[in-house]
Amino acid sequence: MRHLINITDFSVDEINELIDIANDIIDNPKDYMDICHGKILATLFFEPSTRTRLSFTSAMMSLGGQVLGFAEAASSSAAKGESVSDTVRTVGCYSDIIAMRHPKEGAPLIASERTTVPIINAGDGGHFHPTQTLTDLLTISREKGRLDNMTIGLCGDLCFGRTVHSLIEAMLRYDNIKFVLISPHELRLPKYMRETIEAAGAQWKEVERMEDVMEELDILYMTRVQRERFFNEEDYVRLKDTYILDLDKLEKAKEDLAILHPLPRVNEIAVEVDDDPRAKYFDQVLCGRYIRMALILRLLGIK
Ligand code: CP
Repeated sequence: MRHLINITDFSVDEINELIDIANDIIDNPKDYMDICHGKILATLFFEPSTRTRLSFTSAMMSLGGQVLGFAEAASSSAAKGESVSDTVRTVGCYSDIIAMRHPKEGAPLIASERTTVPIINAGDGGHFHPTQTLTDLLTISREKGRLDNMTIGLCGDLCFGRTVHSLIEAMLRYDNIKFVLISPHELRLPKYMRETIEAAGAQWKEVERMEDVMEELDILYMTRVQRERFFNEEDYVRLKDTYILDLDKLEKAKEDLAILHPLPRVNEIAVEVDDDPRAKYFDQVLCGRYIRMALILRLLGIK
């Protein structure tokens, strides 16, 4: 039985295979519409979500399967003190595969040790978000036609932004990737992640102003400041609007820059950017549905 807890649980070949399946689903959706008939996905979300939970739901429904679950811890027996392990052992009796989001880092890993069905980490605290990374990789490969030889700017809350951590882990396995880390000092990438980049021998640098590096970038990956992970509101208010991408700031950017954002957006991309052809964050949302279809098929052993 396979799980997806960290993006590195899948080899580069396996990720490329998932991308191929997702592209085939995009081209031939009818071939997949009944392929999960009789299968049930459980979505256990102990933290808020729009895209991840609903794209998993949409993915399973588009494959002909069914979905059950809860959208907040308060409406589950976690509110009565039930452990994550007991919850997943229970839900494994009702479903064939589980997608789980939890505010505590490592909760999906613990779940995977006690489960009878595959577990997908749908985001654990400030740690990892591997299915967002699969989404990002599908989007980048469709936009650029490759996953190697590029400069990626990661901008915003690099400390608590789990999507950034998973994306870096994934991109380190491709050739000639240069990372430009754009953040205020307080929100810089955690030490363990900087050490991971160093150990892999990739090129990287840290800057505080996005304008200083805009012209170098092939991908600009914007992130919001993660209010829910701050220890005090004062720091959040001081840092929340550090970066607001607008058309002026894009003046020196490459014509084929791809602007990504895992969303939700708060204030960090001005709405005027949405109509710029380089804005790809809603294409990215759609890719999330197709790559999760591919992942469900893979973990259920259907494809
Ligand atoms: N990208 C992402 O994880 O969005 P949600 O929090 O809405 O699921």
